[in-house]
Amino acid sequence: MNIFIVGGAGYIGSHMVKRLGQLGCAVTTLDNLSSGHRDAVLCGEFLHGDLADTALLANLLQPGRFDAVMHFASFIQVGESVQQPAKYYANNVTNTLHLLDAMRAAGVQRFIFSSTAATFGEPQYTPIDERHPQAPINPYGRSKLMIEQVLEDYDRAYGLKSVCLRYFNAAGADPQGELGERHDPETHLIPLVLQAASGRRADIAVFGRDYDTPDGTCIRDYIHINDLCEAHWLALQSLMQGAGSQRYNLGNGAGFSVQEVIEAAQRVTGKPIAVRDAPRRDGDPARLVADATLARQQLGWAPQFPDLETIVAHAWGWEQKTSGGKP
Ligand code: UFG
Repeated sequence: MNIFIVGGAGYIGSHMVKRLGQLGCAVTTLDNLSSGHRDAVLCGEFLHGDLADTALLANLLQPGRFDAVMHFASFIQVGESVQQPAKYYANNVTNTLHLLDAMRAAGVQRFIFSSTAATFGEPQYTPIDERHPQAPINPYGRSKLMIEQVLEDYDRAYGLKSVCLRYFNAAGADPQGELGERHDPETHLIPLVLQAASGRRADIAVFGRDYDTPDGTCIRDYIHINDLCEAHWLALQSLMQGAGSQRYNLGNGAGFSVQEVIEAAQRVTGKPIAVRDAPRRDGDPARLVADATLARQQLGWAPQFPDLETIVAHAWGWEQKTSGGKP
């Protein structure tokens, strides 16, 4: 299979490129390296370019060249999206429309889209299944929901089949230690906690201890990066077999609080981790937990690394490798 991957140099995309390469697919990655890393693309062809470059897209997406497209390239910081919505709509919406136009022109009819739990907004109930209303509360979530809606229209009008995968909290790293999370600036809890363990940062700030949860800190559903990649692979296979468009929530169905993540990191690393209490971060729902029953039933998805300590241990392997720390 020939797969076109946009954003293949980023955290999730790079793990996917590696996986598809192992599975024998021919992979072409397009990435503008605004947040990705060239050396994270471990196989296939790499092209440095931007989705805003419609001539480049038209040239790349020649009829018959690709069986499917996976789209990982987006801006993902909720707070930044509130401050700079134009940046989010330009990249996450307009550029995705350019990609879809080029696909239509080339007759590529299969698309796997990285969506997010942020399309649901403040949960009305948990765990969150696919029937939960989608009412995003920030431009980031809205930008992703807009594309989900565009994809419904494009299926109806143009027959383009898509799978929208709504990630909860992507975490962990390549178990073989070749890849991991390298955001700059890093905003995600697990890598930040591990940086506090390795000494790269002084402490970890806990954003709010007054939530309506058992220990007062926010609860999230952490899902291993390889399990996310497996869901993409299964989604791709289902589209290849002629399945219609689908939307799936992807998580383990188990919520862990910020405090529990810090404790898990202490157990895994054996290091003391200095903790500092900080005010709530704007836009953080108290609890986000997925009901991924549909993906299990329809795709046959079964997470291989559902255990939080395993997720943290793989991320710790990466942190040690990149921080130059010792076990
Ligand atoms: N947190 C801290 N201290 C930190 C960083 C995070 O306490 O230094 C807390 C957050 O407040 C939150 C939890 O840890 O309660 C997880 O935060 P992350 O930033 O790791 O993840 P989010 O749940 O905010 O974000 C995830 C994805 C985003 C996506 C969002 C949608 O990583 O890309 O879900 O809800 F936008």
